Amino acid sequence: MAISAVPGASPVIGHLVPLMRNPVAFMSGLAQHGDLVTIKFGLKTAYVPCTPELIRDMLFDLDTFEKTGPLFEQLSRLFGHGLALCPNDDHRRQRRLIQPAFHKHNLPAYFSSAVEATTEVIASWRDNGVLNVFAETRALAAEVLAATIFVGTTVARQALHAFNKQLADILDQILWQMLLPRPFGRLPLPGNRRFQQARKNFKTILDEAVDAYLAEPSSETTSLLYHLTQPLTTGEKLTKEELVDQLGTFFLAGTETTATTLSWTLHLLSQNPQYKEALYAEVDDRLAGRRPAYDDLAQLPVTTAVITETLRLYPVTAFLTRVARKPVSLGKHNIPAGATVIFSPCIVQHRAAFFPEPEKFDPYRWVSPAPLPKGALIPFGAGPRKCIGDSFAMNNAVLFLATIATHWEFEDSSTKCVRPGFNVSPYPQHFRIRLHARDPRRRRT
Ligand code: HEM
Repeated sequence: MAISAVPGASPVIGHLVPLMRNPVAFMSGLAQHGDLVTIKFGLKTAYVPCTPELIRDMLFDLDTFEKTGPLFEQLSRLFGHGLALCPNDDHRRQRRLIQPAFHKHNLPAYFSSAVEATTEVIASWRDNGVLNVFAETRALAAEVLAATIFVGTTVARQALHAFNKQLADILDQILWQMLLPRPFGRLPLPGNRRFQQARKNFKTILDEAVDAYLAEPSSETTSLLYHLTQPLTTGEKLTKEELVDQLGTFFLAGTETTATTLSWTLHLLSQNPQYKEALYAEVDDRLAGRRPAYDDLAQLPVTTAVITETLRLYPVTAFLTRVARKPVSLGKHNIPAGATVIFSPCIVQHRAAFFPEPEKFDPYRWVSPAPLPKGALIPFGAGPRKCIGDSFAMNNAVLFLATIATHWEFEDSSTKCVRPGFNVSPYPQHFRIRLHARDPRRRRT
């Protein structure tokens, strides 16, 4: 069956301009052209499945669809072959070794570290101060992840701060390092130098932290590192090099994503004050100014719905790639061996057939949701390579939002038009908020 080519491709650059201008809007618009369409990445043709069924068929078939492509190749060259970047052949082994660390029994302990770190960061904000939201939430996400991984280890707080600085320098440059041809990355430009230096320092800090831990393992079972270093009943365990790669991967996969989600959440709330009020009412009622405990998560349905609705509208990964290892049929369509295939949650999550008024921010659609087809909401992906940190990330996002709402009133203070910045995770570029302290004990009527 013929596959529709999406109109509007320019010679040589294809659809890169609309894709870079607004990746979320571009990907969301593709379903109108067919169940499976092609777009042009420069001169290269990429296939895009646009129904939940075809997307799931692709994501579940690891024998055919390899997690690779230029972006992944560049990333693995820079950060090794941890779980998010390893080829499918090694994936099952790695996932078996790492999954226990993310078991639901461990989540309450990780949550306690996250509460400590979040409270500390948010307490450092100033009344009437203006926040660069993405930079601030990225630092917050990195701080919380570092606290969860290293709690009870010898990695000093100061080293963690230095580490977060390296991470910020890496994340600021990473997309360009992935997109530009390799020789450009070697030119002695300030951005390249900063990136290479930061990458080296980042790796050294992780190396030293893991060395120190293995030389004197902690019995602190609340740390993620503790669980990562435990052997399976078969005796298998991660090597030291693998541990370093995994930690690097967690920071890469877990920091931008969480920060992007939280930034869009604050943006959407600042544009929709009725939901902001509902959020304040819920946290005042349920928490009355105290820190959230793990058991509170189930008692915060509005806070959770706000995060879920944000992940529906802005699902963090506008697109990811796979490559077909052999000729394959997706539905009634044939895809040749070697084809690049794109997975984008935006396509299904913005479809009116599943979400009435799909462009409207409406957290209440999650309070008593109608049944959805499998695969209509996939911000964390699906299949064997689904995000391993999904519950951890959701818990932390709810924690961040509840803690911010407990202590701060905020309003949009951006001086430039806010739109999705072209980034690994398209975040609300130029978004600033002004903070006003709230009395956390004030109960609303
Ligand atoms: C809101 C936050 C997050 C979102 C939206 C998110 C989204 C995703 C998505 C869509 C994938 C699948 C990628 C693919 O199929 O190619 C993924 C994979 C992954 N994520 Fe997350 N993620 C988040 C937070 C985190 C956190 C906090 C961590 C670590 C602590 C993490 C670690 C990983 C890893 C290791 C993988 C690879 C899994 C595998 O291949 O088996 N993520 N994430």
